Amino acid sequence: MALLLFTGAVVVNAQQAALTEDARCGCYLIKRNETTYFKKHRFFDFRNHDHHASVPPVIESANDSPDAPVTSPFFNSTDWTDFWMISNWNNSHGVREDSTLLMVNSPNNVYLEANPSPNPSSPSKSWLSLRTQRLPKFQTTAEIESLSAKFKFVSIRMLARTIGARGAITAMFTYRHSEELAKVQESDLEIRTSDPKNLIHCTNQPSLNSEGDIEARASRNATMPDGLEWSDWAVHRLDWTPESTTWYVNDVEVADIAFQTPKDVSNIILNAWSDGGEWTENMTVGEAAYLQLQWFEILYNTTEVEKREGGEGGCNSVCSVDGSPEVGRPVMLWSNGVGRVVGMFGGWVMVTVVAVLFLVA
Ligand SMILES: *[C@@H]1O[C@H](CO)[C@@H](O)[C@H](O)[C@H]1NC(C)=O
Ligand SMILES: *[C@@H]1O[C@H](CO)[C@@H](O)[C@H](O)[C@H]1NC(C)=O
Ligand SMILES: *[C@@H]1O[C@H](CO)[C@@H](O)[C@H](O)[C@H]1NC(C)=O
Ligand SMILES: *[C@@H]1O[C@H](CO)[C@@H](O)[C@H](O)[C@H]1NC(C)=O
Ligand SMILES: *[C@@H]1O[C@H](CO)[C@@H](O)[C@H](O)[C@H]1NC(C)=O
Ligand SMILES: *[C@@H]1O[C@H](CO)[C@@H](O)[C@H](O)[C@H]1NC(C)=O
Repeated sequence: MALLLFTGAVVVNAQQAALTEDARCGCYLIKRNETTYFKKHRFFDFRNHDHHASVPPVIESANDSPDAPVTSPFFNSTDWTDFWMISNWNNSHGVREDSTLLMVNSPNNVYLEANPSPNPSSPSKSWLSLRTQRLPKFQTTAEIESLSAKFKFVSIRMLARTIGARGAITAMFTYRHSEELAKVQESDLEIRTSDPKNLIHCTNQPSLNSEGDIEARASRNATMPDGLEWSDWAVHRLDWTPESTTWYVNDVEVADIAFQTPKDVSNIILNAWSDGGEWTENMTVGEAAYLQLQWFEILYNTTEVEKREGGEGGCNSVCSVDGSPEVGRPVMLWSNGVGRVVGMFGGWVMVTVVAVLFLVA
């Protein structure tokens, strides 16, 4: 009897935790760190917008690019505008010393695209595309940035791929602006389309030291796991916590950097760009590269556990998005102590069941 109960208890895990709604979650735990409680969760789903999808022709004039209208009513909806802004800045005032080319961010390069041939490995009907294309006189680029500059600790994830020509960077990162480069705080996932297709870059900026030399402790050349390439759809995840930033691909940890972990509130940014510099290299005129996303998910802002009575982030209902059977929706781990698991994401022994076990024994 006791043995049976025990066997039953250890298989309890996140897969079996009940699906719930964000409104019922007081906070969220992430896999790996069981003591960082995030307060908020947002999920942006680009998979079912084929009715809004169309690829806009590239605007060939630099001057007409920044003020281009949004490409779909989707980008006018409050679901989008209460979180994201579409950038239209350019690099004519400098930005990077090594740049050799004008680059102009345009809302015209941020669009929903219908999947031309849904299939089992790419079933979504549509995705969000961020496009960068080389024109004769400039590089047209794409960037979306969070409206709020006040994210402090995040777990950000995207089901994404990078495709297209050499000479671009695609990226998902946290960013705290400073006029002084040395004071910029940033955790980056970057893909260089000139690189081998299994190589991705994980960095806590600044990546150069005050002498301008590469700071080896700040970055890792990580390898995509399981033979994946960055042109394959994969879940790229970046966890910025107080101790370190950790990068994952399809839940496999690929890098963890404690050095220069950002400390202060930051923006969240996604982009696809090139400026003809040493980092991006030059794209061939007429060619393009794309960051494409089926969805984007964010857990953000941590509660200060130690200051709250009884820990648990001061919340009664603790949820998680890891191991949820439905991407974007949380599962309830425990509520008011009921269903509380010991050793989350590990042993999964339920306190209540353990109590029964002791009674039986
Ligand atoms: C999780 O985060 C807490 C504080 O936020 C830290 O003390 C702890 O070392 C972290 N644990 C791991 C496994 O990273
Ligand atoms: C670049 O930005 C500057 C200042 O923000 C602006 O005056 C200029 O018109 C922009 N140029 C292009 C091509 O967008
Ligand atoms: C988005 O909103 C702007 C401003 O209200 C409007 O001019 C534009 O036509 C809208 N675009 C789409 C695609 O709905
Ligand atoms: C995160 O928490 C900080 C500090 O409490 C707050 O100022 C900020 O607005 C929060 N960020 C977001 C995006 O809600
Ligand atoms: C990391 O990758 C870049 C190419 O993107 C290469 O130039 C550099 O040498 C690599 N660094 C290390 C430490 O392997
Ligand atoms: C890119 O092209 C420019 C000329 O347009 C050249 O000056 C620069 O060296 C090239 N950059 C790289 C990294 O090859």
